[in-house]
Amino acid sequence: MNLRPLLPALALVAALLTPGCSDQGLSTKRAAGQGVVLSATAAPAGLEPGAETPYPLGLPSALKGRATYTANCASCHGTYITAAEQQDLQKQAALPRTHADFGRKEAELKAEGRWPVQPSKVGPDFASRAWRFERTPGQLFQLIAYGKALKFQGDPSKGTFEHPGPTGRMGEGWMQAIKDLRGDQLVATGDPVPVWNAIYYVWSRSIASVSPTRFKDVWDIYGQNCSVCHGDTAQGNGPLAKTLNPQPFNFSDRKALSQTTDAFLFWRISEGGQFKVIPASVRQSMTAESLQSFVHQWSAMPSWRGVLTEDQRWMLVDGVRSRTYEHE
Ligand code: HEC
Ligand code: HEC
Repeated sequence: MNLRPLLPALALVAALLTPGCSDQGLSTKRAAGQGVVLSATAAPAGLEPGAETPYPLGLPSALKGRATYTANCASCHGTYITAAEQQDLQKQAALPRTHADFGRKEAELKAEGRWPVQPSKVGPDFASRAWRFERTPGQLFQLIAYGKALKFQGDPSKGTFEHPGPTGRMGEGWMQAIKDLRGDQLVATGDPVPVWNAIYYVWSRSIASVSPTRFKDVWDIYGQNCSVCHGDTAQGNGPLAKTLNPQPFNFSDRKALSQTTDAFLFWRISEGGQFKVIPASVRQSMTAESLQSFVHQWSAMPSWRGVLTEDQRWMLVDGVRSRTYEHE
C-alpha cells in the first residue's frame, strides 16, 4: 500500500483526537494550572515557548532525574542501581574487610536512599524494555506531569490512561508538586524539567541495567553503518547527506524523537524507506502528525534487517536516542 492514501485518514484521526484532549484536561494551558504559564510570550526560562508539551531547551538529564525519582517515585516504583554500580559492589565484596574501599559504594547508595534495592510494588519493571516499547517520552511526560495521557496515540478507541499523583489520587499530575534538588534542598518548583528528568531516568533503566558500556558499543556499529549519511555527530550531516532528498534524520532533534516510540524506531531501522505498509502496531503507537512528518516512503534510508542482528538494531534504537538526554 502506498502511504499517500493513508495520510488523510491519519489526519482525520488527529482531528478527532484533538477536542478529546482538551476535554480531558490534557491541553497545556488548562492542565498546567497556576504558577506556570506556558504561552509563547511567557515561557518559563529554559522551556520551548508555545509548545503543547513544554519541552526543555536544555538536554533533559537522566543523571539529575535519579535524585528526583528517588525523592518522588521510588516509594511506589522501587529503587534501581546501574550495571556499573552492580559491578562496583561485586568488586568491593571481593575486597578484604580491612580494605579502605570496602563498603564505599554501599554507603553511597544508602545515602541516596537506593539501598537495599527495593523491587517495584506497582506498575512496570523499568529495568525491562517491554514497558516502554509503545510509549513516546512525550506521552509519558503528559501522563506524569498532568496525570493522564492518550493510551495509544494513533488509535482513539484505546482511550486514555491515568497515573497516581503526589497524594496518590489517580489522574492527578506531578507538575506542581514534584520535588527537585535545588542546592541540597528538595523543593517543589512547578517546573516541568524535573518531570522530564525523572522520565528519562526511568526510560534509561533498562539500558543502564544491561551493560555499562552499551551506549559506547553502539557507536562502533553506528560509525560503520550510519555515519556516512547521518553524520559522525548524528546530526544528519554525513558526507552523503547533501545528495539526498529527503535528508537523513537529525538525531539531535530531541523534540522530534520525544514523539516517537521504540517500536517505530526499530521498524524504521529494520525496514528503511523500502516498506509497503506501516504495521498497525507501529501506526497505533504514535500520533498521526508524527508519522506524517517522520515517515518517508522510498527514501534513501536502507533496510538493515538482513544486515544487522536484532540486538544490534535495538542497540541503535537506544543509541540514536542517547543523543537526546544526558545519561551515564
Ligand atoms: C502512589 C504510587 C506511585 C507513585 C508515587 C508514582 N507512581 Fe508511577 N505508577 C504507579 C502505578 C500504580 C502505575 C501503573 C499504572 C497502570 O498500570 O495503570 C505506574 C506507572 C508508571 C509508569 C508507566 C506508565 C506506562 O504504562 O507506560 C511510569 C513511566 C511511571 N509510573 C513513572 C512515575 C514517575 C516518574 C513517578 C515520580 C514522579 C511516579 N511514577 C510515581 C504508581 C506510582
Ligand atoms: C544511505 C543513507 C543512509 C544510511 C547509510 C542510513 N540512513 Fe537512516 N535515514 C536516511 C534518510 C535519508 C532518512 C530520512 C528519510 C526517511 O525518513 O526515510 C533516514 C531516517 C532514519 C530514521 C528515522 C528517524 C525518524 O524519527 O523518522 C532512523 C531511525 C534511521 N534513519 C536510522 C539509521 C541507522 C541506525 C542507520 C545505520 C544502521 C542508518 N539510519 C543509516 C538515510 C540513511
